[in-house]
Amino acid sequence: MKNTDKILGKAVDIIVRHLESNSQVVNYQTANLLKKKIDLTLPDDGATLEELLPIVESYLQYSVRTGSTQFFNLLFSGYSIPGILGEMVTSAANTTMHTYEAAPVATLMEIELIKKLNDLVGFNEGEGLMVTGGSNANMIGMLCGRHQVLPEAKLKGLGNHQLVAFVSEQAHYSYAKAANLLGIGIDNLVKVESDNDGKMISEALEVAIQKSLSEEKTPFFVGATAGTTVLGAFDPLPAIAEITSQYGLWLHVDGAWGAPVLFSDKHKHLLVGSELVDSFTWDAHKLMGVPLICSAILVRDKGILRQACSGGGTDYLFHDDENESYNLGQMSLQCGRKVDALKSWLCWKYYGNKGYQKQIDNLFEIANYATEYIRNCDNLELIAEPEFLNICFRYISQEHKFDSTALDDLNLEIRQKLIHSGAAFVNYAHYQGKTIIRLILANSELKKADLEKFFHNFVNAGKICEESITYNNS
Ligand SMILES: Cc1ncc(COP(=O)(O)O)c(C=O)c1O
Repeated sequence: MKNTDKILGKAVDIIVRHLESNSQVVNYQTANLLKKKIDLTLPDDGATLEELLPIVESYLQYSVRTGSTQFFNLLFSGYSIPGILGEMVTSAANTTMHTYEAAPVATLMEIELIKKLNDLVGFNEGEGLMVTGGSNANMIGMLCGRHQVLPEAKLKGLGNHQLVAFVSEQAHYSYAKAANLLGIGIDNLVKVESDNDGKMISEALEVAIQKSLSEEKTPFFVGATAGTTVLGAFDPLPAIAEITSQYGLWLHVDGAWGAPVLFSDKHKHLLVGSELVDSFTWDAHKLMGVPLICSAILVRDKGILRQACSGGGTDYLFHDDENESYNLGQMSLQCGRKVDALKSWLCWKYYGNKGYQKQIDNLFEIANYATEYIRNCDNLELIAEPEFLNICFRYISQEHKFDSTALDDLNLEIRQKLIHSGAAFVNYAHYQGKTIIRLILANSELKKADLEKFFHNFVNAGKICEESITYNNS
């Protein structure tokens, strides 16, 4: 290929400028405006590589800077240089993970990663696989549970069996998708009551299991959560595990967000009992800062992934040779599977366990700082006591009386103002009938000054919005 070094060199310069620039978190455009700024049409006659470079620049210019220290919107943030390096090399080597033969180094790296993750969870004899996101890991966890209770479902379907799964009312919606896909039915996913802190109430779980038994249904699966999406709550694993073992149910933990607390001596108590569960979702693309997508399904006992996921008809792919035992494809629901191991392996090599521990401990300190800041600010109200890195709060007025709907609208308006001006990117959620701001601390580079800047901008925007609302209503 001609000019490869020049073009890739220039592309790297563009990427580095993007990573190092201090620009606002988003250059917000409506879809209609953006369509006018970037030529999205695809031509009959191709362009030159050189002609692609300005388009790459525009792409970066109008993309949300998720690595900015004013990006608090989602459960990931920050730029990872070893991760970006891993993505680049993965694309250059371009292979698939189904056999050792096709992906020798990546296969060995993935096996090592899974072993390290299993060690942290406490699965001494475990197995696992990298999958396309936490949602899919949750689904595979549920599939394993279905296979345990009804192995014939793989060949014959569910028949007349009415299987019932249990999650807390704060659990991620991916469990509902899994119930749909696996033929369980979303109505057979019972949402167990959670307490004021967002944790599943284990007594309510047992009552729900007994109810389904009394209706002659088959309870089979409990999906606990370590770090819920809105509040960041950790379900009580020892109490839940006691119940699932008494009733013979599969216990899965969705640790997509919260699992990396296991790196920290100070905070791993949040996941006490993790070794007691059957399967576990781990997203390295959230709190570990690896570029998306980078997730794993971990299972305590060897064998079930292959039993539950293999499909047969694979002679053309899987050959008996001296490396046959290293072939990961039979444990996967995919055929072609992207290499996610290299980027996460490089990140782990770069930071080490100690680096990750430091990052987690730092973020917990920032969370304490943010919580105190809210408590001490007359215009901010803390919605729930944070246990993790989700800070839920909202703006309140000292000057004017707002009913609860008006207060909800005011908070939405503040959020929108911050995004449209490019000052900060933060999300909202609904909790206990209120619209709340959900500030996520996921960027390992965060400092207290970044939080001060955010709250300063947030409160200022709040004052401007409340003045304009009261002026328009008067
Ligand atoms: C608790 C929890 N589980 C699972 C998921 C889904 O993860 P993914 O986006 O990797 O599919 C999320 C996403 O935010 C989540 O918050």
